[in-house]
Amino acid sequence: MILLIYAHPHHSRSIAQRALLEAVIDLPRLTFHPLYDRYPDFAIDVAAEQALMRRAQLVIWQHPLYWYAPPALLKLWYEDVLTRGWAFGEGGDALAGKDCLWVTSTGALPEAYQAGGAHQHDFAAFEPVVKQTARFCKMNWQEPIVVHGAHRIDAAMLAQHAAQYRARLQAWSQAHG
Ligand SMILES: Cc1cc2nc3c(=O)[nH]c(=O)nc-3n(C[C@H](O)[C@H](O)[C@H](O)COP(=O)(O)O)c2cc1C
Repeated sequence: MILLIYAHPHHSRSIAQRALLEAVIDLPRLTFHPLYDRYPDFAIDVAAEQALMRRAQLVIWQHPLYWYAPPALLKLWYEDVLTRGWAFGEGGDALAGKDCLWVTSTGALPEAYQAGGAHQHDFAAFEPVVKQTARFCKMNWQEPIVVHGAHRIDAAMLAQHAAQYRARLQAWSQAHG
């Protein structure tokens, strides 16, 4: 099962994340889990989330980049759901061996992510917080999908990213029977 955990605080206004989502949402064996719809009050049901995670073979964290990080509800989800003795630490093997795919979008174009650019660092410098969260929980980190310049690229380029996302998930499904 592919568990797509989606965290967009303003999905109704989304362009990039919406396009990515629409490209994959009908795939078989994919469970779509929109966190902001499920928990508008930010009161996360930890047992329900952990049960969903247990069933997943591939976990996707999909969201727009907000202040170089996941939006607040996904950050809270990390804090509440990925608990010691369950996701890490002694006996914390519930997520071991699951694949983890990070799918995000940025407002800035790639050239802004370099020394001297608006964001001063390569985009890779912002990856470790999410990547190491997955790795600390013993998940297998997959090559992320990052759409830069989400509102600057044209519709054809966005559609190309969306098609590549779909192809990645189809390939993963084929490889995992
Ligand atoms: C609160 C907020 C913080 C943001 N922080 C960043 C950021 O740190 N880096 C960046 O490149 N874009 C940033 N953006 C731009 C969003 O990432 C961009 O608008 C989004 O990926 C577009 O996707 P959407 O069409 O699905 O909303 C920010 C936008 C908002 C509203």
